[in-house]
Amino acid sequence: AYVVTEPCINCKYTNCAAVCPVDAFREGPNFLTIDPIECIDCDACVAECPVEAIYPDDEVPLEWEQYIELNERLAEEWQEHIINQTKEDLEDADEWAEVEDKREHLQE
Ligand code: F3S
Repeated sequence: AYVVTEPCINCKYTNCAAVCPVDAFREGPNFLTIDPIECIDCDACVAECPVEAIYPDDEVPLEWEQYIELNERLAEEWQEHIINQTKEDLEDADEWAEVEDKREHLQE
């Protein structure tokens, strides 16, 4: 399955969700997650993300490996919150795009 990683936090551009053919994206307050049970590994979402937050699970950078489990857990918690279209950007999304080490800002 594909995995959403740290650059998404507080950016949540949602371009990815609009191209997913199986509606695998789930939405939280400031992050999207991919349901690994739904994901068919089609790769369509990767190129849509302006901050390159999405990776196949076997290519997630070492520093973000925890996001594999995190996507799985949050997809379950947010299973009612299917997102399959683009939404208006979060306020300050472009500023957050420049910030590193955002894990502590993830709202569950
Ligand atoms: Fe996040 Fe990128 Fe999608 S910022 S919501 S993974 S387009």
